[in-house]
Amino acid sequence: MATITPVLTAYWDEPDAFTYAGYTRHNGYQASRKALTTMQPDDVIQTVKDSGLRGRGGAGFPTGMKWGFIPQGDNKPHYFVVNADESEPGTCKDIPLMMANPHVLVEGIIIGSYAIRSNHAFIYIRGEVPHVLRRVQAAVAEAYANGELGKNIHGSGYDLELTVHAGAGAYICGEETALLDSLEGYRGQPRLRPPFPAVAGLYACPTVVNNVESVASVPSIIANGIEWFGKFGTEKSKGFTLYSLSGHVKNPGQIEAPLGITLRELLDLAGGMREGSTLKFWTPGGSSTPILTAAHLDVPLDYESIAEAGSMLGTKALQIFDQTTSVVRCVLRWTEFYKHESCGKCTPCREGTWWLQQIMERIEQGKGTEEDIEKLLDLCDNILGRSFCALGDGATSPITSAIEYFRDEFIAGTHTPAWELFPYEASALFAGANA
Ligand SMILES: Cc1cc2nc3c(=O)[nH]c(=O)nc-3n(C[C@H](O)[C@H](O)[C@H](O)COP(=O)(O)O)c2cc1C
Ligand code: SF4
Repeated sequence: MATITPVLTAYWDEPDAFTYAGYTRHNGYQASRKALTTMQPDDVIQTVKDSGLRGRGGAGFPTGMKWGFIPQGDNKPHYFVVNADESEPGTCKDIPLMMANPHVLVEGIIIGSYAIRSNHAFIYIRGEVPHVLRRVQAAVAEAYANGELGKNIHGSGYDLELTVHAGAGAYICGEETALLDSLEGYRGQPRLRPPFPAVAGLYACPTVVNNVESVASVPSIIANGIEWFGKFGTEKSKGFTLYSLSGHVKNPGQIEAPLGITLRELLDLAGGMREGSTLKFWTPGGSSTPILTAAHLDVPLDYESIAEAGSMLGTKALQIFDQTTSVVRCVLRWTEFYKHESCGKCTPCREGTWWLQQIMERIEQGKGTEEDIEKLLDLCDNILGRSFCALGDGATSPITSAIEYFRDEFIAGTHTPAWELFPYEASALFAGANA
């Protein structure tokens, strides 16, 4: 029987979990003190490398390796930037983490900044969540007041300033180089790589950009060691992580469990599907990861196994849809999102997402044509791998995977509107539908 492994979420139910007092009651800020006073920066990087921690922002890039790319002795400022933009449809883990336990993020930033020899770190938070901004600002102020940040932290000789910055509500600003442009005050658009941020990032200086959850996972690794961390997860996908369950599931929310758990096990932990619901399709990691079906319930949720199954683990945002959901309608909503959020820098994505939306709308209305399905696939083929950044690729994933598993519904879109095939009233999300 799979079980939860509460580490990041261990004290979320305590009323003062988000305060300095609540955090330090459970050994908070002991790991940063240990790093700053007993470890050399390179030892911290090696420990995070050896732990096998992989980035939780979507791509799963090894965190310690990323830190190791920062050149040393270059006489340039180094920057540590936390990506708290969290705007992918379905993804909803970083915001609860920052609300419930902002100090674990601050502690992770202190350790990471020390490791890459940075004296200035930033947290870039999406602009639409002022309550999160306020919570994180308050935590940073408390950390300064208690000597965890600022000059000569606890007599270690190490200085760190931490700036909290609010974005203005653009999904593309979660892409790390667009984020850096936005942080510098420019319109957020992806940058050409190389040079990579590790060489020329913020203000053209060596920069690490890491996801909130990646950074928040570091203090427990420093405190408990790599063997402890390696006890969770699989050979290549080590550790525990936050799975965000939403949709037609009885108890939606965050479940912290080892990498490699299956959706079947997570559904058990979440009380199963809603009454009357059976699983039709799901996303393993947000809307830009190809959808999977009930046939994939036993695929381990780790980077390798999900890739083998033809999708990506992404942000572990498990959106669960039952038999009352029109896959065409759902995919159209996501397509509208990508078209709206396309930054316009490159032609395949700017033009392609516009065309994808037009065709998907026709199919939703039951006005599609015989050629539309092939046209969709052809458009996706011309966007995937030809766009400037991964937003364009992500826009194609729901469409190609939905056609792969539910071609019949696309064919039905040539004669019957989705609202007749899947009436809104029948959806389990409408009150009384299953009464
Ligand atoms: C369109 C787009 C949006 C993204 N949004 C986010 C985001 O909101 N948060 C995030 O951590 N990573 C996001 N990413 C991934 C980042 O570019 C980057 O890979 C990540 O912040 C690295 O952190 P990690 O190594 O800790 O996972 C996005 C990527 C793309 C292409
Ligand atoms: S793929 Fe889309 S979001 Fe990315 S650079 Fe091109 S137009 Fe902008």
